[in-house]
Amino acid sequence: MKRYILAITGTTGVVLGVRLLKELVKDFEVHLIVSDSAVPILLDEAGIDLSRGFEEAFREHLGIDTERLHTYREADLWSPVASGSFRAEGMFVVPCSMKTLSAVANGYASGLVERVADVTIKEGRLLVLCPRETPLSAIHIENLLKLARLGVRIVPPVIGFYHKPDGIDDMIDFIVGRLLDQAGLNNELYRRWQGG
Ligand SMILES: Cc1cc2nc3c(=O)[nH]c(=O)nc-3n(C[C@H](O)[C@H](O)[C@H](O)COP(=O)(O)O)c2cc1C
Repeated sequence: MKRYILAITGTTGVVLGVRLLKELVKDFEVHLIVSDSAVPILLDEAGIDLSRGFEEAFREHLGIDTERLHTYREADLWSPVASGSFRAEGMFVVPCSMKTLSAVANGYASGLVERVADVTIKEGRLLVLCPRETPLSAIHIENLLKLARLGVRIVPPVIGFYHKPDGIDDMIDFIVGRLLDQAGLNNELYRRWQGG
């Protein structure tokens, strides 16, 4: 079974990562890394209480089979995913904070999210970032440009209007569908533009 790595970092919009997880785990083995800063935001914005244990909380929230889901904390630098010898199709960081963006852009791999992103780049594998901040400063833009030039896919949570979204769930599905598109993963999460 193909494997994907998904990191959820501490920004508003963690529901995007949760929605992506729900899609990925249907067909793939998923290795989920949750940064320390994301933990309280997952509780506040998604109602996911990780104090009882990561796998249990996600299993309950999503009603998913844990055999395909493996979870890690920021400090788990001794885990298999921290090494380039761990084979995965690619990594998503959804949502990606400006702090994690900066660390990845500068090769500063102090926690597991940044380490795995660093490994993904050095191994020449697919890396998809969903940076969440507005407005963007020149520092943010320079970091994004640096990574885009390395082939990292930058997919900010920018909604489309042509599919006439019917509420927040449609908007989330549009963004998650565009994230999956970047990995070449078939999805019907949004209605594609058919021409005028
Ligand atoms: C409720 C909340 C919302 C936040 N939203 C954002 C955000 O949208 N973008 C961002 O870059 N940082 C945001 N932050 C700040 C980050 O959480 C902070 O920079 C943190 O160090 C990021 O760490 P991480 O990348 O390891 O998760 C937010 C913090 C809180 C408490």
